[in-house]
Amino acid sequence: MNLLAPISAVGWVTGVFGAEKSFVANPIIGNAKLNEWGLHRARVKTAERMARLRRGMMTGVSDADKAAYNRDGFVIKENYLPDDVFKRVRDEVFDQPLPAREMRQGQTVTRMIPLSHANRTLLPEATTAAWDKGLNRLTGYVAGRTGAPIHFIQTVIAEPSRKKADPQTALHADTFHSTSKFWLFLHDVDVEDSPFIFAPGSHKLTPQRLAWEYEQSLTARAEKRAHHSYGSFRINADQMEALGYQPPRQVAVPANTLVVADTYGFHSRSPSSKPTIRTELHGHLRRNPFAPWNGLDLQGLPGINHRQLEINNWWLVKTGQKNIWRDVGMVRANAEAEV
Ligand SMILES: [Fe+2]
Repeated sequence: MNLLAPISAVGWVTGVFGAEKSFVANPIIGNAKLNEWGLHRARVKTAERMARLRRGMMTGVSDADKAAYNRDGFVIKENYLPDDVFKRVRDEVFDQPLPAREMRQGQTVTRMIPLSHANRTLLPEATTAAWDKGLNRLTGYVAGRTGAPIHFIQTVIAEPSRKKADPQTALHADTFHSTSKFWLFLHDVDVEDSPFIFAPGSHKLTPQRLAWEYEQSLTARAEKRAHHSYGSFRINADQMEALGYQPPRQVAVPANTLVVADTYGFHSRSPSSKPTIRTELHGHLRRNPFAPWNGLDLQGLPGINHRQLEINNWWLVKTGQKNIWRDVGMVRANAEAEV
């Protein structure tokens, strides 16, 4: 008899009422019978209703940004930082080695350099830009809930000579509810530079999308594509068209462009035909989608806010879990991959 079973069961039930998305890790979320009765559909519908309610209570986001989000599911702002500030951000990001971790997914390596309290003296301009309150409000609006995002410098290194596919190049939704990511690109991102791809309007929960979500939920637990079974549903262009969404669009943008996107909308990374290295200030925000309030975010508490990555790394070590992000020591943000 598994003595931990009752504790696990409490965790699974709590997960159903939270942001948990995996049809494999949580047998309640993955239960075919419950999903046949509409569990997943109810989670999707309720989360969307609550996000709308919370967005209605938010202030400090311009009407233009709200309109762009409502129409497309993302907001793009060119020339985001003043020129002199942008230059200082670039200088401090590229002119010194910084403490980094890396993770490989097929032919793509992602490098992460935390924009945290610990690195604030090394990266004063970049942390100030990423922690900006206006940006935080916009990130919250797109996520459908305000809170304290996780911030880091992200470098995406594409090595197409390695044949193993990058799972992030398949069109997908990150989870079953609104959640946001932002990128402030530190150099031009051309169509050849593995840009972000997003299907405009695919963040909208239509009756067709809801029916598709229901269908996926019936078989997701047994699905062979691991990310799909973990609740990050994959879709192809034809299926997406059948749902009535617009075709995906490559977001190729000049340096100093901010993109904030709701990754419930279908998106991916473009596969790269040549080796590329792309660096950006990055943040993401994902919270319990069912809470009727904004704020009251545990991760926003002093002592936790801007320390989330370090706390997570510490916890993994403490509990003997594997960290998929390998510590690679001090490297330059735009250096070749170490892993
Ligand atoms: Fe994604």
